[in-house]
Amino acid sequence: MPDDFVVTPWEVKGDIDYERLIQTFGTQKVDEAIIGKFTEHTGELHTMLKRGIFYSHRDMDKIFKDFETGKGFVLYTGRGPSGHTHLGHLMPWIFTKYIQDKFGVELYFQLTDDEKFLFGPDLTLEDTKHFAYENALDIIAMGFDKDKTHIFLDTEYANQMYNIAIRVSKKVTFSTAKAVFGFDNSTNIGAIWFTSMQAATSFLPSVLKGQNIRCLIPCAIDQDPHFRVTRDIAEGIGFYKPALIHCKMLPSLAGSDKMSASLPNTSIFTIDTPKEIKKKIGNAFTGGCASVEEQKEQGGNPEICSVFQYLYYIFEEDEDKLAERKSQCLSGELLCGYCKQYLTEKVTTFLQAHQERREAARDIIEDYMLRDCLCKEE
Ligand code: TRP
Repeated sequence: MPDDFVVTPWEVKGDIDYERLIQTFGTQKVDEAIIGKFTEHTGELHTMLKRGIFYSHRDMDKIFKDFETGKGFVLYTGRGPSGHTHLGHLMPWIFTKYIQDKFGVELYFQLTDDEKFLFGPDLTLEDTKHFAYENALDIIAMGFDKDKTHIFLDTEYANQMYNIAIRVSKKVTFSTAKAVFGFDNSTNIGAIWFTSMQAATSFLPSVLKGQNIRCLIPCAIDQDPHFRVTRDIAEGIGFYKPALIHCKMLPSLAGSDKMSASLPNTSIFTIDTPKEIKKKIGNAFTGGCASVEEQKEQGGNPEICSVFQYLYYIFEEDEDKLAERKSQCLSGELLCGYCKQYLTEKVTTFLQAHQERREAARDIIEDYMLRDCLCKEE
């Protein structure tokens, strides 16, 4: 089958067939049984589950079981600090917060400043550390529970992380890394090692607690290859395999592919001003026709419209309003200018409040950070 799309942790392009990814990655569909468990335990189903945005998983059934039997579980997610946070990054974070709130669980948040240094030809280590702290402000602004949320940078929490990662790395061969990530002889050896760091966080809570606890990783599906490797070696080094729940990726304002920090005009960043937001949404790709007359006659196409996708993925939580917008677009009643304006208002309101919390976060960042204790006494 010719591949008309690519999904790896470092490259996402083309028109992604998410159902096919379930097969090629070997994950499970979020089915009625999983949805039923979420409903049972949370009382209300998150929009991202209802709409099939979080649509794939590994071992969610085991997570529910550990929760039900009182063994408990922890959350783990992360961010590669290659630039400022954009709206696409917030999707898994919004969902992670829902799980933290509903299940009252701890969250470990990894900032892979090492990864973005190793893989980014144009980024210095100072750059990625700087962005890690900028991204941490956004994480805190999301409102994660201060007493239950632990954020760290790979290069700074290095003592603890190295001691776990090295155990992982002994079990992963170069041929596995090549097969899973497509590395070759020109890949720097730091990049080859990196998956050990991303894997290690799955086991960190067990190490810190001195007792095995299963972790659940909410993430975009492009991160799954790291965790396939992690799951393969977990039991061999004495830990549980991490469970995962995967989401689809927010398309860019240019229409397809995931929103990318390297194409600034097609992504909305959390630090954007109202003026920038307006301009970016104003230039967004829509499913509209070339002229107003044509559109009134033929209708628009919400499926390919980035403005509609933004509403669908994050900004219109009301099912009825979303359905109404869709039908009015299809019938030609609704013109693109109106949708752009509606989205601009939603995003601006959201980001204004976010930016206030983000500034306030500067004073409390240390409350969230995990630090190595290098003292000798126990
Ligand atoms: N590699 C991820 C990125 O580039 C960052 C990351 C580390 C991550 N650990 C994770 C993402 C766990 C999701 C879940 O963004």
